Amino acid sequence: MKVPFLDLKAHHAPLLEKFNRAIREVIESNAFAGGPFVERFEKEFAAYCGSKYAIGVGNGTDALWLTLLALGIGEGDEVITVPNTFFATVEAITYCRAQPVFVDVHQDTFTLDPAELESSLTERTKAIVPVHLFGQPADMDPILEFARAYGLFVIEDAAQAHGAEYKGRKAGTMGDAGCFSFYPGKNLGAFGEAGAVVTNDPELRKQIQVLRDHGQPRKYCHTSMGWNCRMDGIQAAVLSIKLRYLDEANLLRRKHALEYNQAFEGINEVRTPFEARYARHVYHIYAIRVQERDEVRRHLAEKEIGCAVHYPIPIHLQEACRNLGYTAGAFPVAENLAEEFLSLPMFPELTEEQIEYVARCVSEVVGVEALV
Ligand SMILES: Cc1ncc(COP(=O)(O)O)c(C=O)c1O
Repeated sequence: MKVPFLDLKAHHAPLLEKFNRAIREVIESNAFAGGPFVERFEKEFAAYCGSKYAIGVGNGTDALWLTLLALGIGEGDEVITVPNTFFATVEAITYCRAQPVFVDVHQDTFTLDPAELESSLTERTKAIVPVHLFGQPADMDPILEFARAYGLFVIEDAAQAHGAEYKGRKAGTMGDAGCFSFYPGKNLGAFGEAGAVVTNDPELRKQIQVLRDHGQPRKYCHTSMGWNCRMDGIQAAVLSIKLRYLDEANLLRRKHALEYNQAFEGINEVRTPFEARYARHVYHIYAIRVQERDEVRRHLAEKEIGCAVHYPIPIHLQEACRNLGYTAGAFPVAENLAEEFLSLPMFPELTEEQIEYVARCVSEVVGVEALV
């Protein structure tokens, strides 16, 4: 049985008519870059998150970068984040000319460990970027409390956490801003590149709106150096449709995660993901931890089961970050996770039969190992 890592075709199939109609509307109204479809999606997404505003941008990297810029973060500033994230988190900080400062993650939740913040604080620290990795929100209350105590901004990287909750609050809405990616494979994915920032701060909203459009609050009146980071109309029209199905899709992901957890019960060599008591995880990624990761990965590939590693090299050990001066051993939890993580197929249309099969194939490898 073939099991893909992700099956977007199956996800889109029942909605094709709706997508076609929506795209035709965009074509007929010539609203390709920004415009009414983007404005409508911004309203809908802000309402969904329970935030005052959403600002549509070109992708999740833009969302992070423009938010940091709009908050005035720049040369000489330090921004605390985690080493086990997608590279974009750190690119955005670096592209503001600020310096990323890493702290290790909690070994159960894989998200920023608030106990590590104090030791990374300097006079130059300006912001914290917690990452809601794999769809589980970071432990936000102690992070927000720390930020308040030292006057720091909190920018949530919610690129993997559409609809996730922390103590009943939606991911992305607790800090000064929340940054989302709508890359096609995300829980809420476009038909190309797109992203958004959510915030309750009208001034921040205005700044990001200007920055995403060449620094122009009015056409051909440029008040600052911006960039071209607009969301396009077709992506917004598609996202408006898909947003209506996000909760249903997240529920299915949660159900599948439970089914995987049950299938792995009693197999001590496989550590299944942990949902913190404060969290409503939305399982953008279902990652197990297994010491024989590479053998399992090979075996799954032979069985035509799609799997992935998020992420094999922690950011502080990436070549591009060598100038930051970190060495192996600096963040033992993140480094260990990079060696053990294995992401299994996860998408709403996955069947129970497929889940059982994947779990059985994983167990075949660790079972043999256990006997040796
Ligand atoms: C944690 C995280 N941050 C930022 C991004 C960047 O988003 P995008 O690919 O839309 O630029 C991603 C996307 O993969 C992500 O997973």
